Amino acid sequence: MSADAPAFGIYVHWPFCVAKCPYCDFNSHVRASIDEEGWRAALLADLAGQAPRARGREVTSIFFGGGTPSLMAPATVGAVLDRIAATWTLAPDVEVTLEANPASAEVARFRDLRAAGVARVSIGVQSLDDAALRILGRAHGAAEARRAIDAAASTFVRHSFDLIYARPGQDMAAWRAELAAALALAGDHLSLYQLTFEPGTRFEQLRQRGDIVPLDPDVAGAMYEETQDILAAHGLPAYEVSNHARPGQGSRHNLGYWRYEDYLGLGPGAHGRLTVDGARRATRGERAPESWMARVARQGDGLVEDVVVAPADAAREALVMGLRLAEGVDPARFARCTGIALDDALDPRGLARAIEGGFVARMAGGGIAATRAGLQVLDAVLAEVAR
Ligand SMILES: C[S@@+](CC[C@H](N)C(=O)[O-])C[C@H]1O[C@@H](n2cnc3c(N)ncnc32)[C@H](O)[C@@H]1O
Ligand code: SF4
Repeated sequence: MSADAPAFGIYVHWPFCVAKCPYCDFNSHVRASIDEEGWRAALLADLAGQAPRARGREVTSIFFGGGTPSLMAPATVGAVLDRIAATWTLAPDVEVTLEANPASAEVARFRDLRAAGVARVSIGVQSLDDAALRILGRAHGAAEARRAIDAAASTFVRHSFDLIYARPGQDMAAWRAELAAALALAGDHLSLYQLTFEPGTRFEQLRQRGDIVPLDPDVAGAMYEETQDILAAHGLPAYEVSNHARPGQGSRHNLGYWRYEDYLGLGPGAHGRLTVDGARRATRGERAPESWMARVARQGDGLVEDVVVAPADAAREALVMGLRLAEGVDPARFARCTGIALDDALDPRGLARAIEGGFVARMAGGGIAATRAGLQVLDAVLAEVAR
């Protein structure tokens, strides 16, 4: 995709999971029962309510995230996709992704999800080691995860899976072995996240009590470095801090976020960034599922926030996102999406220091990118280079 072809993604949030994982701070909830028809109607209403903000756009990607959207009835996924197609033009190569958990009950829905229009799945495998999966509080084992990856490979056009590493007690040899197993199963995309302890999670409580000891940051950093080398040697270099793909196989939807392109967010807690009448706007849906649903009924959409983002703030957001990418920040796209020239958003002296220190590189064409050393200390890089 050229820097001049604007992307427009649609994110759909499904906030329910079978169980809450102890490390997870996503907007995900466990409920004894879900009014699927009510949820379908509410998502379609949120879509209709927000659609006028993006009139006339061409949809380049659709992403069902969660929560666990593989728990959605395929008919609900199909209804949302049909309504999107009836509301906007779809790009000929529109990417349609859904996040899936590897439990067999969900794998049983893969065919129907494919028939509903999902072409790409991203599976939350987390680990290929049974003991680690238990510690992570996952309901599935490694064999089930392998079966899910096989089923995804034979059902969908593209698939990816997620692993979490730098786990308490994990050593480099164990991670190398797990990575080798993952590479033997991988398609064209892998997401590899270092475990983070998020406020409000069970893991964070355990950490504060001393019942769980995070991995030494130097060991985690070394694991990150080694991961980059191994994946690059296997033809899956990092195109973003935690995401690896064969050339051209990155998640187009997520690339839209990192490139600071436009996207509409549907469902509870979903964020949107949209250019409306030349102004960049930020939207956010109400977070709690039931309150969101009530708001949609009352208000016609689920938004609790819809504000203009000042160009200086947009520029900062675009830098935060773009510096995560191996390709870096493209000046033409930056100007189009923020209204500010890239060089006007940068502090020349800070940038010179970051380049001198080997943390940032100037790209041909005038863009900037974090180097591998820079990617490990992105917050510091940003503080240095942003005006
Ligand atoms: C929104 S979750 C959804 C995936 C799906 N529900 C599942 O768990 O299989 C996306 C991914 O974020 C990652 N993730 C969530 N919490 C994390 C944490 N605290 N540290 C590192 N990675 C995390 C996991 O790899 C997870 O698959
Ligand atoms: S990691 Fe996935 S399955 Fe677990 S609580 Fe979070 S969203 Fe739900």
